[in-house]
Amino acid sequence: MTAPLPAANRPRTPRFVQLHHEDRAAVRDELLQGLRAPRAFTAPKYLYDALGSRLFDAITELPEYYPTRTEAAIFAAHAPEMATRLPADATLVDLGAGNCEKAARLFDTLRPARYVAVDISVDYLRHALACLQRQHPALDMVGVGMDFSQSLTLPPDAGRGSPRVLFYPGSSIGNFTPDAALRFLRQVHACILEGAAGGSLLIGVDLVKPAGILEPAYDDALGVTAAFNRNLLPHINRLTGTDFQLADWRHVAFFNAAASRIEMHLEATQAVTVRWPDTASATSFSERRFAAGERIHTENSYKWLQADFDALLHTAGFRDTQVWTDPDG
Ligand code: AVI
Repeated sequence: MTAPLPAANRPRTPRFVQLHHEDRAAVRDELLQGLRAPRAFTAPKYLYDALGSRLFDAITELPEYYPTRTEAAIFAAHAPEMATRLPADATLVDLGAGNCEKAARLFDTLRPARYVAVDISVDYLRHALACLQRQHPALDMVGVGMDFSQSLTLPPDAGRGSPRVLFYPGSSIGNFTPDAALRFLRQVHACILEGAAGGSLLIGVDLVKPAGILEPAYDDALGVTAAFNRNLLPHINRLTGTDFQLADWRHVAFFNAAASRIEMHLEATQAVTVRWPDTASATSFSERRFAAGERIHTENSYKWLQADFDALLHTAGFRDTQVWTDPDG
């Protein structure tokens, strides 16, 4: 038998707060409303079921998908300088933390006093944070399960009394329309103000570049991005009861220069009728017909001009910005 360790010697364990509770009926309504629209669409968050998250991880390793390795190189080259611009003893708030790896790589340089990992699912965070805590036993860690695209009010023990550094890498901001990005950045600004003075935002933003670089990044030779996009269909089938067949849909991705965004779509390869039960137990069905070539718009990935993103930050309330890019700008 082993005696329990005295409290002071016990290893720290991360705390968890679950603020997000899935509402299956609301999810179904939202998806079906998008599928019924004259130009059918779905929100990009539905690309991420368990398999979708793995496929996205695989995308980040593709030779064509430059954003992840470019951003990693920017952090490797400039993190020490970034650290001089950020407050000491900060609470590092990682929005969309996932496996927490990107933030963890910065711990030694940024030396935060507390790490708050925010993601829609605490279950996913639990394992990642428990491993991380073993590697950084002195760091206070909190996992928060919330859909921060809806609201960004963090629980009080997520660093309300200390300067907050909000971390939003990966150009995830690109998956918001410019209006939604502004609303989101205003919430981020308010969240920073709830902490002590000196808080900051450290954000990764993908800049506009030639279509010859952008398009292969979203339509790779191996077909991983195509699988990521098409995997949406079995996910929607599970969430709504629709009867999408994978064989009827192909991946389409292109740069819409006028809107400065990559668009991903699923395109019907032939005329298709999709059916779904009107309620979970009903015997009546609704349907949507798609002509051959008709599309479902599944994601936008906006590419920003530096001056336009600076202006967006300014409108959202941020001052004193600094930019780091790779040597190619
Ligand atoms: C998560 N997000 C920033 C990715 C992007 O580049 O817009 C999602 C993605 N979609 C296709 N490939 C990657």
